[in-house]
Amino acid sequence: MLRFENITKVFKTDILTAPVVALESVNLHIKSQSMVGFLGANGAGKTTSMKIMLDFIRADQGSVVYGAELGGNLKNALSKIGFLPERPYFYPHLKGHEFVSFMGELQGLSKTTIKERAKLWAPKLRIDHALDRYLRTYSKGMLQRLGFLTVVIHEPTLIILDEPLSGLDPVGRQELKAIMRELHASGKTVFFSSHVVPDVEEICSEVVFLSSGKLAYQGSVDKLMRENVGQTFWVKTPATDKILRTPFVAKEKLSDEIVRWEVSQQDQENLLRELLDSRIPILGMEQSRKSLEEVFYQIKGKVAL
Ligand SMILES: Nc1ncnc2c1ncn2[C@@H]1O[C@H](COP(=O)(O)OP(=O)(O)O)[C@@H](O)[C@H]1O
Ligand SMILES: [Mg+2]
Repeated sequence: MLRFENITKVFKTDILTAPVVALESVNLHIKSQSMVGFLGANGAGKTTSMKIMLDFIRADQGSVVYGAELGGNLKNALSKIGFLPERPYFYPHLKGHEFVSFMGELQGLSKTTIKERAKLWAPKLRIDHALDRYLRTYSKGMLQRLGFLTVVIHEPTLIILDEPLSGLDPVGRQELKAIMRELHASGKTVFFSSHVVPDVEEICSEVVFLSSGKLAYQGSVDKLMRENVGQTFWVKTPATDKILRTPFVAKEKLSDEIVRWEVSQQDQENLLRELLDSRIPILGMEQSRKSLEEVFYQIKGKVAL
């Protein structure tokens, strides 16, 4: 649907400060109908990438390819993309519905169409009750939901959201995640940035991960976990000098009396059998699975330069 081919962006502020390489030869691909989490620490280059996708700023090298679903070129793509910036500006003296009309008209929609679409989406976004109120009375979560309404009002194919969950309380985050899931389920492609890994892990099957302006990983969360984790299995036993035949990944002394053996998943049965045969008591066992966050720290270590 949208592809970055070797995108490089360098910011040169003034002659006294060194130029900042915000993106370096980045290739990324947003697939049609996917829900992609765009991860990276602050300053990794996420906002810059989004601005380049929307042609707010130009890359120094490389190109952005807009697929057929986006009309094949930038001009067509812009009418098929809904974008919510990280810090949108909401005119405080406008009422909710006035702001929605204003944004809809900017997209070239008729008043009737705007009304119809708002009627459809406002209840789903749980903002319908507040459309008659002035925006200065809105909470952060309400403004964000209104922002979502203006993003979907022209029925975009691709929705790009910059840090949509930041600054919200846990309830607000859950609500917006549910809405993002719903948007995705209704057939839209959703691409959103976040520096909070668990949020992404919860709702995305695909991730793009930037580390200091470079692409560190792109693909499915499952594959990433499989390739980088290798599930392991832990068993706790009393301390023993016995040398086990089963190869272990790690043996950790938890106290003077207790040790913990970590083996790969395929050795799980061998280990249990050997312990039983050797009459070594099993004090506890556990399947271990790293979180996506731990995996990213692992990869980041490999990619960070
Ligand atoms: N207009 C700009 N001028 C100079 N440097 C910039 C500008 N915009 C972004 N940068 C720098 O580019 C890098 C990437 O920034 P950004 O894309 O905002 O990261 P992220 O959104 O992942 O936090 C940072 O080092 C940032 O300071
Ligand atoms: Mg940003």
